[in-house]
Amino acid sequence: MKPKVYVAARLPEEAEAYLAQHCEVSKWGGERSITTEQLAQEAQAAEGILLTGVGVDEALLEKLPNLKVVSNMSVGYNNFSIDAMKRKGVIGTHTPYVLDATVADLVFALILSVSRRIAELDRFVRAGRWVKGSDVNLFGTDVHHTTLGIIGMGRIGEAIAQRGKLGFDMNVVYHNRSRKPDTEERLDITYLELDELLEQSDFVVLMTPLTKDTEGYIGAEAFAKMKQTAFFINASRGQTVDEAALIEALRTGAIAGAGLDVFDQEPVSADNPLLQMDQVVLVPHIGSATAATRFDMAMLAARNLVEALRGGEDVHIVKELQP
Ligand code: DGY
Repeated sequence: MKPKVYVAARLPEEAEAYLAQHCEVSKWGGERSITTEQLAQEAQAAEGILLTGVGVDEALLEKLPNLKVVSNMSVGYNNFSIDAMKRKGVIGTHTPYVLDATVADLVFALILSVSRRIAELDRFVRAGRWVKGSDVNLFGTDVHHTTLGIIGMGRIGEAIAQRGKLGFDMNVVYHNRSRKPDTEERLDITYLELDELLEQSDFVVLMTPLTKDTEGYIGAEAFAKMKQTAFFINASRGQTVDEAALIEALRTGAIAGAGLDVFDQEPVSADNPLLQMDQVVLVPHIGSATAATRFDMAMLAARNLVEALRGGEDVHIVKELQP
C-alpha cells in the first residue's frame, strides 16, 4: 500500500507526478499559505507532509498520530521544533545544495543595488527627476577592491565569498562558529572574530541560520562597531537581527545602508520605517526564487519525502535529527 502524504506547498507538475507514483497524495488547495491549525485538520491521516515555512511544533505533532516525516522545501528549518520532533520520532528533511548559488547571486544583487543606489535611482528616473547635470548627486560606492565580511561560512557563505573574491577582487573575511582552515586556504579568505569583522568590513553579510543562539545576533552593539560607510546585507532570517536596532542605525547614519531579503515580520507591515528609507533595498524573501532553483528544491523535497518514508539512506535529514 502506498503511504499517505499531504502536500502543503505549491509544486511543479513533475514533483506532483513523482509523488503520485509513490504515495497517496492529498494537497492544500487554498490561495494563501496553509496555517499550522489548518494543517492539523487537513493532514490527520498523513504519514508524510511536504511543506515550506509552516511551524511544526508539539501541538501540531500531537494532532498527527501517523506522522513519520516532514519534508521542508527550504534549506532553513527554523520552523521545526527540533525537540518535539525528536520526542515524537518524526524525521525532518530540508533542501541543501540546490539553492546555494542562487542565494549567493541574490546577495550580490543586494550588495550592488544598495551601494550603487540602483533601486533608489530607478525610482528617480521613473519620477522624471533626471535632468542634465544631476549626476554629481547620484554617486554611489564602489564594491570592487573593498572588504566583504561574511558571518556564517556554510555552503552559501562560500558561494558568496567566491563571487566577492573572483568577481570583484574583494578582500574577504569571515566569522563562523568554528574556523574552517581548508576553506580559508581554498578560497583565500581570512577568519576574524566578530568584532574585528564588523570594524573592518565595507559590506557585512549575515548568512547564519536562525537558532536559539543566533536570535537577535546582530543588534545595537554590532551596528555601533560597523563603519559609518558600511552596508549591511541580510539573506538569512529576519530574526537573526534586532530590526529596531537596524532601523535606528540607519536612521542615525551609524551605517550607510542595508539590503534586506528577510524581515522580522513577513510580509512587512505597511508602517515599517524601513519602507521610507532610500538607503535600503528591500526584496520579499526571494533568496532561492528562480524558476530553475525552485524546481530543483521541489524535486528534492519530494524525493526526500518518498525516500525517508521508505527508510532509504539518500535523504537530507536536518543535522539535529540525524540518527
Ligand atoms: C531557504 O530555503 O531557507 C531560503 O530562505 C529560501 O529562500
